[in-house]
Amino acid sequence: MAAMSVIGIDFGNESCYVAVAKAGGIETIANDYSLRATPSYVAFSGKNRILGVAAKNQQVTNMKNTVYGLKRLLGRKYHDPQVQREKQFLPFKLLETSTGFVGIKVNYLNEEYTFSPEQCLAMLLTKLKDISATALQTQVNDCVISVPSYFTNNERKALLDSASIAGLNVLRLFNETTATALAYGIYKQDLPGPDEKPRNVVFVDCGHASLQVAACAFHKGKLRMLATAADSHLGGRDFDLILAEYFCKEFQSKYRIDAKSNARAFIRLLAEVEKLKKQMSANSTTLHLNIECFMEDKDVHSEMKRADMEALCDSLLQRVEKTLHQCLEQSGLALEDVHSVEVVGGSTRIPALKALIEKVFHRTPSTTINQDEAVSRGCALQCAMLSPAVRVREFSVTDTQSYPIALSWDASGDGEAPGEIEVFPMNHAVPFSKMLTFYRREPFSICASYIGNVPYLDRNIGMWTVKDIHPTADGKSQKVKVKARINLHGIMNISSASLIESKESPETDGPEENQEKSNENSEPPQNETSNGQPEEEEKKEKKKKQVVKSTELPIESLTVGFSQVEINQYTEQEFKMIAADRQEKERADARNALEEYVYELRGKLTSEDDLATFVLESDRDNLVRQLDDMENWLYEEGEDCNRQVYQDKLTELKNKGEPIQVRRLEFDLRPTIIEEFCRTLQLTDKIVHQFRAKDPKYAHITEEDMKKVDHAISQNLKWLEQIRSQLNSTPKYLPPPITIAQIRQERSNFENTVSPIINKPAPKPESPPKDAKENEKEGGDNTEQKQANENNESTQNNVQDENMEWSTT
Ligand SMILES: *[C@@H]1O[C@H](CO)[C@@H](O)[C@H](O)[C@H]1NC(C)=O
Ligand SMILES: *[C@@H]1O[C@H](CO)[C@@H](O)[C@H](O)[C@H]1NC(C)=O
Ligand SMILES: *[C@@H]1O[C@H](CO)[C@@H](O)[C@H](O)[C@H]1NC(C)=O
Ligand SMILES: *[C@@H]1O[C@H](CO)[C@@H](O)[C@H](O)[C@H]1NC(C)=O
Ligand SMILES: *[C@@H]1O[C@H](CO)[C@@H](O)[C@H](O)[C@H]1NC(C)=O
Repeated sequence: MAAMSVIGIDFGNESCYVAVAKAGGIETIANDYSLRATPSYVAFSGKNRILGVAAKNQQVTNMKNTVYGLKRLLGRKYHDPQVQREKQFLPFKLLETSTGFVGIKVNYLNEEYTFSPEQCLAMLLTKLKDISATALQTQVNDCVISVPSYFTNNERKALLDSASIAGLNVLRLFNETTATALAYGIYKQDLPGPDEKPRNVVFVDCGHASLQVAACAFHKGKLRMLATAADSHLGGRDFDLILAEYFCKEFQSKYRIDAKSNARAFIRLLAEVEKLKKQMSANSTTLHLNIECFMEDKDVHSEMKRADMEALCDSLLQRVEKTLHQCLEQSGLALEDVHSVEVVGGSTRIPALKALIEKVFHRTPSTTINQDEAVSRGCALQCAMLSPAVRVREFSVTDTQSYPIALSWDASGDGEAPGEIEVFPMNHAVPFSKMLTFYRREPFSICASYIGNVPYLDRNIGMWTVKDIHPTADGKSQKVKVKARINLHGIMNISSASLIESKESPETDGPEENQEKSNENSEPPQNETSNGQPEEEEKKEKKKKQVVKSTELPIESLTVGFSQVEINQYTEQEFKMIAADRQEKERADARNALEEYVYELRGKLTSEDDLATFVLESDRDNLVRQLDDMENWLYEEGEDCNRQVYQDKLTELKNKGEPIQVRRLEFDLRPTIIEEFCRTLQLTDKIVHQFRAKDPKYAHITEEDMKKVDHAISQNLKWLEQIRSQLNSTPKYLPPPITIAQIRQERSNFENTVSPIINKPAPKPESPPKDAKENEKEGGDNTEQKQANENNESTQNNVQDENMEWSTT
């Protein structure tokens, strides 16, 4: 059975990390470039897709078809302000699809393609899955993927759709903040006990594109999120943008060039500015920025020091401070209740950010967790906890809801007013279910939407219509219970609706209703909320002993995201693209193999130390000419053939090259093989001499047998003499008159002849009287063993490795 693996994926705006939970602990997986960070980039070419590191590496030469920044586009409409804001900086083409969502237009396989951000993310996930499968040598299906805590319902659904297309089974979408907190908590041995005051830790995560601050309460084996605050447009890249804008202006006046008009130049500037920013974090002196041949053949130079950067980015820093305060306030913690502040994410290396943390929390930020890998490690841990495949220490995680959700419903036929309630208030725990009671005579709809300050254009989460409701026989409304649920992924659903019919009964007391509740005991705290309908009546009914019958009602849902049909269609398309990429890779590999062979063989053929003397000069010249032609062909009409063409050409060349290489190999190995055979003959000859000298060791061998041995020795010595002279008179460029294999065979024949004679066991000595039985056996073995030892360094040794089945018979 193949081992199952559970992985955690930190899906970042700029790069992704994958961690795996194993019996021995958590490991971060390195990708095909031996890097732990895989850029969140996918690119398209005329022949294939290019994913991860390779995609980012070719970006500058393929700007329009290199896609990144997906995290910001996922599940959003084209006219969403966030999408419009991103669009200014993205060099590839975004368009509005017929459904109002984002399409990404690229040139792939020399045709125009429009992919959704979800599909592009699926491609990236395919790559991460592939990296993991290669590193772990096993298929990967179950995973936990991180999301920013501020991701809304629709963004979460979009991410899940991407994972489905990539064939990943997501056990949980895990908040980045919560993942970090878990990675922190699980290895802490000194967390307070259940009756003690919790340890409250604040996590500040500032990455490439956003800032998240979370307050979390820890007990032994337990964490509870108290509050999260985020600024979803405040990350390292926002600092880079401000610096880049500054330099653009400077270059405009200094060099009369407009870097913003040239996407390629701007991307280069951003990369240089990012480097400068990192240097400024470590060094407060004035540092230089130099870019050669930046635009219009002009080199550009400038300089900046940390204090200048802090002044330029003051507005960002103010927002950082605001977010820190916001989290502290929401958590309800007093400053002295905060045990420590942990920083993660690359951008928390900016000194001004650390200074702000000290200013707000009166504490030096600590870095006890891995700044870049904490999120992926937390996800891997969570995945291990949720999967039966790996066992890890249990750690209970209670997450909270950051945007309040309200449900609203339309008026009922009998004059009941439309209504709205806040079902999941801010900081409510998730996952969670709530039951709502309605009295209806006809189908009705419930809408869920965000209330409060959500960073998403559309507050609507979904609409669910509960069907198959009819009036009772006497025309009255029926009681309908509806379950609203926020699942482990943080996605809201009306997950069930049932018709509750009660009849008075003399005996029973409504077991069905209890049963209905116990079905949900997999979910944490359950609260029952009535929508304002007479609850007392319900209580009275209960006292009167009722039989309650519950019938499941069908629900029709209208939510964003792909339908199953669409997911299947995209999955199929992804499969096709994977197959096409594989085919292209095999084709390229076959071409490379041919090209490599051409270079290798030609190099060897023209080297006097290598193959040059093992081929007739005229043959060699012909072959070298053929190799030259092949090289030219590879760069001209042979540039783009299918795999078989390259393979056939390689076989053709090998048929010519290999005999030469074999001659060289024979030539190199032959002396040793002959030498070994000679040695065997000499050692055997020594035994013959010992026999003649009446060595008692060989007293049991007959004269006649020993003659056979002697004869075999002289025969083979003669044979060796012969072949030596034959070989000496054969030029190196001709096939050798005798091969290594033949020499080996000859030696093996010799050994088969002599070994039964010289290794014949001596007759057993008298057994000592005590422990007769056991010793007899052992004694016998010992004799053989002894003889073997004595014969070691002699034929025995050789016979054994050449002729495995030799025996004393
Ligand atoms: C800071 O940069 C300057 C100029 O490049 C250099 O001379 C100095 O050694 C650097 N200091 C540190 C602490 O890296
Ligand atoms: C993640 O955190 C956010 C903000 O605290 C919250 O809204 C969301 O429900 C959480 N999601 C999950 C799956 O725990
Ligand atoms: C919502 O609930 C329905 C009914 O239980 C279920 O079929 C569906 O998969 C759920 N949708 C989500 C997004 O969880
Ligand atoms: C659950 O309901 C009780 C009253 O029924 C209420 O006091 C409590 O705040 C509710 N809890 C949550 C988490 O909504
Ligand atoms: C023979 O000697 C070699 C090394 O001296 C040793 O490794 C090997 O086990 C010996 N063989 C026998 C049969 O004793």
